[in-house]
Amino acid sequence: KCFTIVDMDTCIACGACGAVAPDIYDYNDEGLAYVYIDDNTGSALIPDILVDDVIDAKNGCPTDSIKIASAPFDGDPMKYE
Ligand code: F3S
Repeated sequence: KCFTIVDMDTCIACGACGAVAPDIYDYNDEGLAYVYIDDNTGSALIPDILVDDVIDAKNGCPTDSIKIASAPFDGDPMKYE
């Protein structure tokens, strides 16, 4: 199982994640990333076919703002830190 959330407090709007995983991440008016499939609550189970994209996005984020876990985040990016 894979869940993901963006820590929008640390995102610097670099834009890498949406390029790598456009089916998961989008940007708000300020260019900050969020998970648009669940309104960045980290509660939506990521389809298996998209998990590799999510992992690539996490590895490519320069500020470690993309979080991944095997259980839901319930809206808290720091839940498993
Ligand atoms: Fe922000 Fe990292 Fe994406 S800085 S735009 S969450 S790659």
